[in-house]
This record gives sequence, C-alpha cells and structure tokens, in this order.
Amino acid sequence: MEIDSLHLEDDARQVFLAAPAAEPERQYYFMEQLHRMVGARAEAGDTVLTYQVETFGCQMNFRDSEKMAGILLASGFTEENGKHPDLVLINTCTVRENADERVYGHLGYLKKQKERNPEMVVVLCGCMMQEPHVVETLKKSYGFVDLVFGTHNIYKLAELLFLMYSGRKWQLMHPVKKNGKYRVRHEMLIDIAADADLIVEELPDERKYPFKASVDITYGCDNFCTYCIVPYVRGRERSRRPEDILSEIRKLASLGVTEIMLLGQNVNSYGKQFEGVTFYGLLQEIEKIDGIHRIRFMTPHPKDFPDELIDVIAASDKICHHIHLPLQSGSTEIIRRMNRHYTKESYLDLVRRIREKIPDAAITTDIIVGFPGETEEDFLDTLDVVRKAGFNGAYMFEYSKRTGTPAATMPDQVPEAVVKERFARLMETVQEAARKDLGDLTGSVQEVLVEEVDPDRAEGVTGRLTYNTLVHFPAPEGKNPEELIGSYLPVRLVENCGFYYIGVVA
Ligand code: SAH
Ligand code: SF4
Ligand code: F3S
Repeated sequence: MEIDSLHLEDDARQVFLAAPAAEPERQYYFMEQLHRMVGARAEAGDTVLTYQVETFGCQMNFRDSEKMAGILLASGFTEENGKHPDLVLINTCTVRENADERVYGHLGYLKKQKERNPEMVVVLCGCMMQEPHVVETLKKSYGFVDLVFGTHNIYKLAELLFLMYSGRKWQLMHPVKKNGKYRVRHEMLIDIAADADLIVEELPDERKYPFKASVDITYGCDNFCTYCIVPYVRGRERSRRPEDILSEIRKLASLGVTEIMLLGQNVNSYGKQFEGVTFYGLLQEIEKIDGIHRIRFMTPHPKDFPDELIDVIAASDKICHHIHLPLQSGSTEIIRRMNRHYTKESYLDLVRRIREKIPDAAITTDIIVGFPGETEEDFLDTLDVVRKAGFNGAYMFEYSKRTGTPAATMPDQVPEAVVKERFARLMETVQEAARKDLGDLTGSVQEVLVEEVDPDRAEGVTGRLTYNTLVHFPAPEGKNPEELIGSYLPVRLVENCGFYYIGVVA
C-alpha cells in the first residue's frame, strides 16, 4: 500500500513511519496507537467504541474471527451484541454461491443502518474479498464500506484500522464534531494480498468457549479440487511449526480448555515442509499434554490417510472416534475429474481399514451433487458408497459454479431440476443409513462433554459424544445447568432421535 495515497494527517504519518518493521511487534505498536485514539475519543466525552464480528464461513473463518476480536479488544474496543456497534466486521465465505448471496444480503441491511448512523464503520474481510470481481462490485455498488482486506493480512487488522481512522476524512485521532456529528470518510481502504507472506504468531486472541478451542495447524490448500475456490482465496498450503502449535495447546490447557479441534484443509499433509514431521506424529505429541481430554481434527483428505494415523487413533484414549472423511462423489470417473486422487474402491477400502481398527468409529462426510458431467450412473455410485460406508452423517451440497475454477468451464453442467431430484434421493439414502448406524448406541452409557444449556428444554443441557453426536439430557436434580458447561458426565442414551440422542445422567 502506498502511504502517500492514504492522505494521512502529518502526525499520523509520523506515527505510521515510526512503527517497528518486525512482527508481531509492529501490530502491538498499532494496537497501542488505536488504544490511545479510542481512549482520546472517550475522554472527549464520547463512549468507548464497540465492535461486532460476524462470521459467515467455516471453522477456519470462525477461528480468524476469534483472532480479530482479540486484536479489537487489545485496541481498546469493547464487544457489542446489540443493534448499534461502532464497527461491524464481516468475515466472509465464498465456497458456494449462496455464501456470497448471504453477504450481499447483509450488506443491504448494513447500508440502511449506516444511513441512520454514518459514523458506524463497516469492515469486510475473508475469503470473498480475495476475488477481484467482488472488490469491483463493492467499489461500484457498496461505496459505504470503509475497509476491505482478504485472508492473508488478518494479522494486520490493527494497522489497517489505524490507517483508516487516521485518514484525512476520518476524525478519530482529533475528535472534532461538526453539527454534532463526526466527519465521515468516503474512501474505501482496500488491502488485498495475493498470497501470505508470513505466519504471525503470538497475537492477541479472544476464544469463544472456555472449555474447547480450535487450533490452526495448516493454512491454505494445494489440492486444487476442480470445483473448489479455497486454494485461490486461501493461498498455498503452509504448516505452522510444531512447537508453536504445542505451546498454544499447552497454554490453552493451562486455561482450562479440555477439547482441541485441529484445523487444516487437509490435515494429513501437515508438516510436509519440515523434516520428519507428520500429522500423526503431531497428534502423539498433543496427547502428552496434561489436561487435554479430547482431540478432534478437520479435515483429512481420503487420498492420503495413512495406516499409521489409524493406528494412532486406535491406540489413543484422547483422540475422538469421529472421522470426517469427505467423499464428494462415489463415482471414480467424477472423483478423477474433481482431481481428488482416489477411487470408489480405495475410499471404501479406507473406510473398511478404519472400522477394522476402530470398530466404533463414527464416519461423516461431505457430498456434492451435480458436478459437471455427473450421469445417473455416476450418481448411483454415490448412493452405493453411502449405503456401503454407513455414514453417521453427511453434509450435502448442490454443486455451485465458482468463477476461476476448472469445473466452472467444464461441459455438461447438470440442469438444476436434475440436481434437485438427485439431492432429495441422496438425502433419503443418507438418513436411512444413519438411522441404522446410530441405533447401536441406545441403552449404553457414554461420556458426554456438556457444551451448552439446551435452548429448547427447561433445566436441560446439550453435549457431545466422542462421536460428535449431540445428546440432550436434563441436568441432575439440584444442579444448575449453567454450571455443568464444560464438564464430562456419564450419560445413558435412552432414545435415538435420528441425528441426536435423548439421555439421562447415569
Ligand atoms: N478441505 C475440505 C473441504 C473444504 S470446503 C476437504 O477437502 O474436504 C467444505 C465442503 O464444501 C467441501 O467438502 C465440499 O463438499 C463443499 N464444496 C466446496 N466447493 C464446492 C462447490 N463449488 N460446490 C458445492 N460444494 C462445494
Ligand atoms: Fe477445496 Fe479440495 Fe482443498 Fe478441500 S482439499 S479445500 S475441497 S481444494
Ligand atoms: Fe468459506 Fe473460506 Fe472456509 S471460502 S468454507 S470461509 S476457507
């Protein structure tokens, strides 16, 4: 970004030029500057600035939102969940078209809010912003947006906010009111990087839950499945150093976190850039950390799921017996055209190998219906795998064309009516298969981690099995449901309700 194009006041320019070059020191410097600015505004008689973060994407997106909330808090903002935040940050997703539509819909709502409150800052970031056509649309039709950045410079939030608030048209640094209102900037500050330059560790962090936490292990993706936008918007695959991951988890454990979810677009390729580092090796190290009771991970790719990993899970009493193993399609030909590098048979063989060593493993999956060129026969292969694999659950998606991906220009795009009809059949088959599988646990006593107060049942709580299945049960006599959150309880499963259980404390 060219500093001259930012129209900074002289003193803001000096502050900017004096910033340390190294990270994370540079960002702590800007958090301090913001803190001072927010404080000055409060001293000038205004309230402390509040923020609201809205997340539209996957768990990695959610994790990024936690990091940005941490930066905002460290910069002197406070969280606001009401209707009038001073700053709204929207962390976008673009994996399917409907994700984009939701964001544009929300922007329509924010536009109206901003008309009523022109001082409100609107920040857009995340995957959707990495697409040039989106930024063009924003410039053309959503001029009220104040700050735009992508997925690679999330760590720079404090610096970008400093620049935005210091722009000549924004008077936060010297709060001057004109006719009872702050002057408002009209330029959109845009900072999109094509790829990540570095992984910045040790930034502030605001975790949503006290008892469970997600931990990134890789960023980006190198697989280039032909339907998928993620490699384009998240950049090349990079692994965090094992020592950084382990020290983060140790710290979380010391704060009372007992369940860890390891995140990566393909966790099995973790550590490729380091000598002698593997995903299952990392799992073995995490297992040794005192206080960690459950370990989950998402997502493994079926093309490289080694036997060593199956053995490590089977031998562990901490790694959860739930494996999310995206199938996408059961047809070998479609899988080939998706660039996924496995076959119908090798996928089913992997499921067999997992069940052989982990007989109670819950396996869930993702399936796309209507990939270009998918014939009825291809689709029947998908149904066949669903029946044979006996999935405990499946996320099902209609194929969505993503501009710039190879599949977008493939011939024989499947007509919508055919996609809808196949989707309905798939859903039915998945439900049948799941009902059969889940039935096995009724009557047994299982360990449940209580996650929240049940919104639908008085005095009830909701928790999860190692299999990731939800269980609703009443809090024991005399126990406050609120206080049970984060604890592990033995629960007898009394009723199988399809995708969840009703239980009682054993
Ligand atoms: N890295 C993960 C998936 C991330 S995206 C993996 O490889 O499994 C989450 C899911 O969204 C994918 O598994 C896929 O089923 C779905 N998806 C991705 N791109 C899609 C598209 N263009 N249309 C429909 N579904 C899509
Ligand atoms: Fe997308 Fe494939 Fe990478 Fe998953 S592995 S994020 S589906 S390209
Ligand atoms: Fe969406 Fe980006 Fe995740 S496109 S699914 S938020 S990686």
